[in-house]
Amino acid sequence: MNILLTGGTGYIGSHTAVVLAQAGHQIVLLDNLSNSDISVLARVKALTRSHIAFVHGDVRNQELVHKVLMDHHIDAVIHFAGVKAVGESVEQPLRYYDINVGGTLSLLKAMRHARVFTLVFSSSSTVYGNPQYLPIDEDHPTRCTNPYGRSKLHVEEMLADLAAADPHWRIALLRYFNPIGAHDSGLIGEDPNDIPNNLVPYIARVAAGKLECLRVFGNDYPTPDGTGVRDYIHVVDLAEGHMAALQALARTNQSLHVYNLGTGQGYSVLEVVRAFEQASGKTIPYHIAPRRAGDIATCYAQAARAEAALGWKAQRTLQDMCASAWKFQASLVLE
Ligand code: NAD
Ligand code: UFG
Repeated sequence: MNILLTGGTGYIGSHTAVVLAQAGHQIVLLDNLSNSDISVLARVKALTRSHIAFVHGDVRNQELVHKVLMDHHIDAVIHFAGVKAVGESVEQPLRYYDINVGGTLSLLKAMRHARVFTLVFSSSSTVYGNPQYLPIDEDHPTRCTNPYGRSKLHVEEMLADLAAADPHWRIALLRYFNPIGAHDSGLIGEDPNDIPNNLVPYIARVAAGKLECLRVFGNDYPTPDGTGVRDYIHVVDLAEGHMAALQALARTNQSLHVYNLGTGQGYSVLEVVRAFEQASGKTIPYHIAPRRAGDIATCYAQAARAEAALGWKAQRTLQDMCASAWKFQASLVLE
């Protein structure tokens, strides 16, 4: 297949590009490089020994996206491009709606014009809000508490309307839980430009001596050790989930599919700290800080639907996630 990955030089996009190219697909990456570096392209090419086309551009540029779809005879699109920082979305809601909702709307118009009807969309477990029950299955009610989450939910609703209106479409909404880790090679991984918001990139920088101390946001949650529990999923498992979703869309008669991509297993902040210490051989200094506004106690997936329908199941352990994240972080120190 010829597959366009918007946001393809980003964290999840680059890992997905590697998995798809290694399976023999022709890959085109479109990215405006607002949150990734062009050096990722050479790394993806080196890992896959494949030709990977790159287009520097904005997903909101409908004319450009249409041209890319036509020029490369694209069969399917995976739409990663977007902005994802919860705190920033509270301060800049219009930017979030513009890029995440406006960007998707523009992409969909370009796809319809080019008669490309297969789409995999990067959604998030954040659409479930504060869990009403656990594990969270796909029928759990959706309710968002911040503009980032609402932008994902708006897109999900837009895609459901589109699928209902036009039977040509084949759309998979993938609700990711907490992607962490890196490619085994250590060549690609997650390296945010600013001080990381997320737990594992932050721990990795503490282990590398680039940040002093981890703040553990709260130890009084109703969890076994009082710290927040999340469903961490290895980014390469997640990437493989995208390939499984594309394969399933090729054989289905239904227009819309919704899948959780998680492991079904929750780990606390302190369990992740210990796993990272083991993987890196470094001590991670931390102190207990107040709860972070908007955080929930516990979140993990019911992952059975993806396993049954996609034949996909996350394989990699927390140790694998921490070891690969550390390998990538250590390679950055050497650069
Ligand atoms: P990322 O920031 O590493 O990747 C996003 C890529 O999109 C970046 O390379 C960025 O330069 C590009 N981009 C942003 N705006 C663009 C635009 N207007 N036009 C073209 N390119 C643009 O983020 P990621 O972690 O790889 O996330 C990918 C997707 O998955 C996002 O939609 C995100 O909301 C979603 N998601 C991520 C997580 C997570 O924890 N990483 C969890 C759930 C959902
Ligand atoms: N945490 C800390 N210290 C830190 C960072 C995080 O203690 O410096 C804790 C949090 O309080 C939480 C856990 O580590 O208990 C995980 O936090 P992350 O920020 O890594 O992840 P979240 O679950 O808060 O949210 C992430 C993304 C969301 C996405 C969600 C589900 O930021 O955008 O995963 O995919 F929606």
